[in-house]
Amino acid sequence: MTGKQEKPWKGRFTAATDQLVEEYTESVSFDQRLYDVDIQGSKAHARMLARVGVLTASESDAIITGLDQIHDDILRGDFSWSRTLEDVHMNIEARLTESIGDVGKKLHTGRSRNDQVATDIRLYLRQGVDRLSAELKTLILSLLDLAEAEYDTIMPGFTHLQVAQPVTFGHHMMAWVEMLRRDLGRLSDCRDRMNIMPLGAAALAGTTFPVDRNYTAELLGFDAPAANSLDAVSDRDFAMEFMSSAAIIMIHLSRMSEELIIWSSAQFSFIDISDTYCTGSSIMPQKKNPDVAELTRGKSGRVIGNLMALFMIMKGQPLAYNRDNQEDKEPLFDSLDTATAAVRVFAGMIPQLTVNSGAMYRAASSGFSTATDLADYLVRKDIPFRDAHEIVGKAVQAAEQAGCDLSDMPLQSLQQFSGEIDGDVYNVLTLEGSVRARDHLGGTAPDQVLAAIRKVRKQMASN
Ligand code: ARG
Repeated sequence: MTGKQEKPWKGRFTAATDQLVEEYTESVSFDQRLYDVDIQGSKAHARMLARVGVLTASESDAIITGLDQIHDDILRGDFSWSRTLEDVHMNIEARLTESIGDVGKKLHTGRSRNDQVATDIRLYLRQGVDRLSAELKTLILSLLDLAEAEYDTIMPGFTHLQVAQPVTFGHHMMAWVEMLRRDLGRLSDCRDRMNIMPLGAAALAGTTFPVDRNYTAELLGFDAPAANSLDAVSDRDFAMEFMSSAAIIMIHLSRMSEELIIWSSAQFSFIDISDTYCTGSSIMPQKKNPDVAELTRGKSGRVIGNLMALFMIMKGQPLAYNRDNQEDKEPLFDSLDTATAAVRVFAGMIPQLTVNSGAMYRAASSGFSTATDLADYLVRKDIPFRDAHEIVGKAVQAAEQAGCDLSDMPLQSLQQFSGEIDGDVYNVLTLEGSVRARDHLGGTAPDQVLAAIRKVRKQMASN
């Protein structure tokens, strides 16, 4: 990066900017990634200016050709960014005038960097949201495949991380699917509100030129021009909404990570994470660590932190634009990059999981996971639920003392706790019977899991 050009706003200044201030205030080191959308926005603005007669057709054409050339130059790496020119906007504008001459100076007519940057971030984030949504869909599809493959694999379901009731692994995967589908919905909601065009707001009050904002909005694929110029240049609520959605995605991935880490431990051994998604220890030769899951859990911290940063940046700002807003970019870009990478790496890791159904089954067989089924059995024999709960509690105590599970107890022993217990009790004490019995919408019965998978697949195919 160089630091020599003249500043476009030099007119009212008599002294040059202090070097430290130049370093302190620049944003080009991190906003140059906006170059593509900045050029799109400038081209649309130039076309609009020609349409309303502020520029001639040939002036607009020269500007557009010049901008296309700059785009190519940047792509080829043939563009030297200057810190003196502060940001991506002034770098590109200066280069335009350098290459096409004075007509380049007409591009900024009826525009300010305030509405320009507000437009750029929306365009950039819109693309980012679309990419992230596509990655999320891929991840959801891989979870659906896993759920389908393991739709009747029995595992212990947990509350308080204590064995609670048996569930199917497919059902557990479908819980993750539901979480991520709501994330998709949140991204789509914030995209709708984001897709409003600031251009025409100029610095804050609008412009004296007869701009056709509907036309520019149409060229850039915005749903409409922003309704209020002060609001258009100043608010970053669309970024806060996106960053909230990204933080929730990361929280979901972090919780999934936590489960993957626990499940892949030697003590659980429910799953094996592919070697390609793990790393080893430099000192302990036996180690295979679930780093991708751990890092995702860790990275959720920065995405949540980024959201807090933007909240703080915004909370004290009066209308309209303040330079504080320049601080929106680094946290925003980091949240977008981090969430996209995390979702992508998960989508790669999930299809490579190996499920150890034997270990899951054994774990579900201990811990009295079918105790509720026994209580429900007694209720069906007309014992009030509270009494049934107590009876089963006593039976569990006895089984614990005998060092066996409820289903291992002989009928006579069980009958000591209630005369209503018959030989058919063993149907409900088995894990298969337990999951099969939860046979309603949203329940863990294997047939219900298959139905849920089918339903989601259909919904995803139709939008
Ligand atoms: N780099 C600035 C930003 O990101 C662009 C807008 C500057 N506007 C201004 N009036 N100084 O917010």
